[in-house]
Parts: sequence; structure tokens; C-alpha cells
Amino acid sequence: MAFPEAFIDELIARNPIDEVVSQYVSLRRSGSNLFGLCPFHGEKTPSFSVTPDKGMFYCFGCHKGGGVINFISQIEGLDYGDSVRYLAKRCGMAVPEDEQYQSRYHQQERLWAIHKEAARFFHSKLYAPEGRHALEYALGRGLSKNTMTIFGLGYAPDSWSDLTDALLQKGYTQEELRQSGLTNVTKKGNLVDRFRDRLMFPIIDVRGNVIGFGGRIMKKDEEAAKYLNSPETLIFNKRKNLFALNIAKKSKAGHLILVEGYMDAIALHQYGFDCAVASLGTALTEDGAALLSKYTDQVVLIYDGDEAGQRATQRAIPILEKTGLQVKVLKMRDAKDPDEFLKKFGADRFKLLLEESADRVEYQLTAIRKKYDIRVDEEKIRYIQESAQLLSTLSSPVQREVYGHRVAEAAQISYEALKMEVDKAFEQRIGKEKRRQEKIDLAPARNLQPKSRSIRYDNIRSAMAEEQVLAMILKEPALLEQTKGLSAQEFSSPLLGRAYDQLLRRYSQGLEVRLGVLTDMTDEEMSHLALISQRQDGPVNEEALKDCVRRIQAEHRKTTVDSDQDLLAFRDQIKDRKGMKI
Ligand code: UTP
Ligand code: MN
Repeated sequence: MAFPEAFIDELIARNPIDEVVSQYVSLRRSGSNLFGLCPFHGEKTPSFSVTPDKGMFYCFGCHKGGGVINFISQIEGLDYGDSVRYLAKRCGMAVPEDEQYQSRYHQQERLWAIHKEAARFFHSKLYAPEGRHALEYALGRGLSKNTMTIFGLGYAPDSWSDLTDALLQKGYTQEELRQSGLTNVTKKGNLVDRFRDRLMFPIIDVRGNVIGFGGRIMKKDEEAAKYLNSPETLIFNKRKNLFALNIAKKSKAGHLILVEGYMDAIALHQYGFDCAVASLGTALTEDGAALLSKYTDQVVLIYDGDEAGQRATQRAIPILEKTGLQVKVLKMRDAKDPDEFLKKFGADRFKLLLEESADRVEYQLTAIRKKYDIRVDEEKIRYIQESAQLLSTLSSPVQREVYGHRVAEAAQISYEALKMEVDKAFEQRIGKEKRRQEKIDLAPARNLQPKSRSIRYDNIRSAMAEEQVLAMILKEPALLEQTKGLSAQEFSSPLLGRAYDQLLRRYSQGLEVRLGVLTDMTDEEMSHLALISQRQDGPVNEEALKDCVRRIQAEHRKTTVDSDQDLLAFRDQIKDRKGMKI
């Protein structure tokens, strides 16, 4: 999607990065930089920096970085085009739209509209004669009519074409129906309804658009899947959305509750826990965790009480903690899931459970405890060792002590003995970590590779020089006068070459030269370029620049000369052979 370059320049000039970031992060000046708490990962001491001169941000903790467009893209979860539009709106600029975008956005809008239409259709069928058993099913599961309205529940009739016909009649095209995922295509190429005779749960994104459906079967049928969900479409990605977050995001509870099932989430809301959300027929993903962390800093995990639920809990904990979320775990007791619990014991009992929900350390210690029969000496030792391993990973001494006492008590040993075990586990981990670090230090080339695995340098020597050239140019664009002899083709890293190419072209056209103007870069590529740029702190040095240019060109020559030499050698070989024949 290409916006005119001059437009992007004005957009960036009219949206100073420090102003834009300040809407999300409170910044404090320190020298030429501003610092604040990173909005992309949880932290207590500021490692998120904004450099207004360079129009960039960079986090020293999570290594995210880029220009102002990137910032909006990452914090608002918008793509490049929508971030540009967002910023244009912010400063009151009109956006020159290109056709390609128009059509894509138009497609999305049509899909949102079609889903809204479908949701209306399903909802009305819930109260129609043919939906009677569905309504009874929902009422039988304890859902109130009010809840059904809030969640927009519906019924997909037991028919092959009711919805398809209704949508065609509303003016949606066959192609749009196909794209929506609401229909299946038969072998003959006809469109038929995807959802038939199912209780329908609309999936609504945080902006309030219906983006897909989950449909529950109501008959006891061993064959069919209990839930049929929408397929991935232009507007539906099950890994990046959460059920009921559109409602839960407004909750005042101060935390979000994450459950496994649609029915669990809905039941919780009905019983007054308006902060419940559910994953969409998939295990929690990093995208899901990142989405949660935009709306809260504490998540209570309530997965089903069975073994699968407990395994899912163990997997979800690190994913959530990585985004800086504080995690608590509520273990279901006397019921298989929250839905059943609420029905059996009511909201007050659930509230008690919620209040005692353990933090994740407690939860994990209990899980370890259950693995061993501590009346048997050997198992008791293993229990102590495994608990000590866990305790040794805690950075808070208070936590180590509190939980340490608990473990010591359970194992009936002295706290001192346990502490020795924890210290030993700690030493072992540090030792391992040190050896790992030494290995890295001994292989410096590997160390210089970009952090992001999607970016790789083939020629480290050249790439280091390329990085420096870019960093200096971004600091002082006038330096491009002196690198004119250097062409992007001579770069060994395609990414750095692309960046250089764009900057050089912009410079010769008298356009803005800074990080934020780069286009066609992924978030990871932008972060990497930001990292390179923020390293150039001091004044630029023209001699160093010339050195770098020489090195890049020399390395490049090697590759071309090598192949030339191969060619020469080959020619000589042929000559020799011919010579022998003669
Ligand atoms: P559950 O089987 O626990 O469903 O699956 P539930 O929502 O609690 O429904 P009830 O109470 O049995 O009626 C948990 C989640 O896993 C996904 C759905 O997102 C469901 O809410 N799932 C389950 C599917 O996507 N497909 C299936 O066939 C089953
Ligand atoms: Mn369930």
C-alpha cells in the first residue's frame, strides 16, 4: 500500500513521536531522550526510550522499536495503512487513498456488515418457531433471556440455504459469501450454509464488529464436533481475538478472568463476573496474551478441573507472564468448570474461590506436591529438590522465604535445610547460565546476529559496517553526500540494503530521511533498525563512515571477484583440456 512519500513526511512532522507516545506512556526527560515504562512489556523501571530528534522509540527491555507509525501499529494493533489513517485523523490531515487499499478496506467493511446481518438473522431465528428447541436448550442451560440478548446468541436453522438465501437477497454477492466463511462450497460449486441446527455464539472484536461465530451442537451426537467455529477469514483470526473481551474490557473488576469455554464465560457474566473472557477454540497464544495485557495487568486463569485443563494452565502461565501480566490460578473444585460450579454453588461461593485463588507459585508448588508421596523417603527428597528448583527461580527474597517455609513444613524438615537446597539449585542454574554465556562469547560472530530470528546476516563483517552506515545516516542525513558511491546492491544484508536504498532515494528527492519514514518493513525489521539507530548516540565521525563504506565495498568485491575467479579457473581448465587433445 503506497501512500505518497511527501504525505508520509508531513504526517510524521505533524505527529511528533513524543506527543503521540505521551498519550499512552508517561515520559520523563533524561538528556536528549525521554524515558517511561514500556507499554509493550511489563516492567517496574523505565527502559522504554523516545528520541524526538530521530523520531524513534526503542525499548531496551523487550527490544521493540521504530518510528511513530510503527508505534501506533503496535500499540493499537493496526496494520501499516490503518496506523497512517489513525495518525492522519489525529492531526486532521486528509488521506490520499490508493485503490488497492480502498478495495481491501471495502472488503473488510462488507464482511463486517455481512456478519452483523447474519447475527441478526440467527438471533431472530432463536425466537422463531423453528428455533424453539434451541431457545429451550439455552434456557435449560440456565441462560436468561437478558444474557442471550447481551451476547446476541442465535440459532442457525436446520437448513442448507436459509442464511445464504437471506444474505443474497440483501445484496451480498456469492463471492462475498464465500469470503465470509458463513457458507461452504459443494463439489458442484454451490453455496450452502456452514452452520446448521446449532446454537450460535457471535464472536465480537474489541471494536464491536461481529467477526465470526461459534456454533454449538445441541443433540448428543458422537460424530459431529461439539463446536463448529468460523474459519479464518480476512476479518477473523482466532489466535488474535478473545470471546467476550468486547464486554469484559469495560469491567471495573481490576483483573480479567480467562476461561476455556464460551459457556463458562457467558455463565460468569450472568452471575455478575463481567470480566470473563474465553479463548476461541484454541490454546492461549502469545497474541492472545498480548491482547489481554492491553486491558489489564492481572489475569485469573480458571481452566477446567480435568487433566487437560491443568496442562493448559501450566502452558498458559509463562505465556501470560512474558507479557508482564500477573497471573493467579483458580483451581476448580467440586465442579468440572466454572459454568457447573456457578450453577451448583452460586456466585457467593465462587467469589470466595476467586478471593483465595492462588498466585502461580502456590499453584505450581501444589502441583509438585501432588506428584510425590512424601511418606516415602525417596519421593520426599525428590519433592524437596523439585520445589527448591522452583523457589530458586523466584527473584523476590520475600517470596522465597514465605514459600520456603511452607515447603519445609510440608516436608517436615528445617527451613535452613531447605534453604541450602534452594541455594544449591540457584548455584547450579547460575553455573549453567554462565556456561551458556561463555559459549556465546566464544562465538562472537553468532553473538552479532540480530536478535530476531527472521533476520540473518550472511556476512557479519560487512553487516556490522552496514549497520554503522545506517545508524550514522539516520543521525545525520547529510552524510548521504559522502556515501553516494555506495549502492544498495553492495550491501550484504537485504534488509539493511533496502533501508539504505529508501533513505538514499528520499535524500536525493529532498524528502525526509529518518527511521519513521521507512515502508514495507515488518515490526521485527523496524525494531531491529531502531536498535541499530539508537546505538549511534555520540556525534558522527566522517572518517569512521568512510571506513565502513570501504569495508562494505571490499566485502562485496570479494563475492564478485570470487565468482570471476571461478570463471577464469574454469576457462583455464577448458583450455588445458583442449590443449591436451591437440
Ligand atoms: P468445552 O467442551 O469445555 O465447551 O470446550 P464449553 O464452552 O464449556 O461448552 P459446554 O459447557 O460443554 O456446552 C471449551 C472450548 O473449546 C472450543 C470452544 O471454544 C469451547 O468453548 N471447542 C470445543 C471447539 O472449538 N470445538 C469443539 O468441538 C469443542
Ligand atoms: Mn466446558
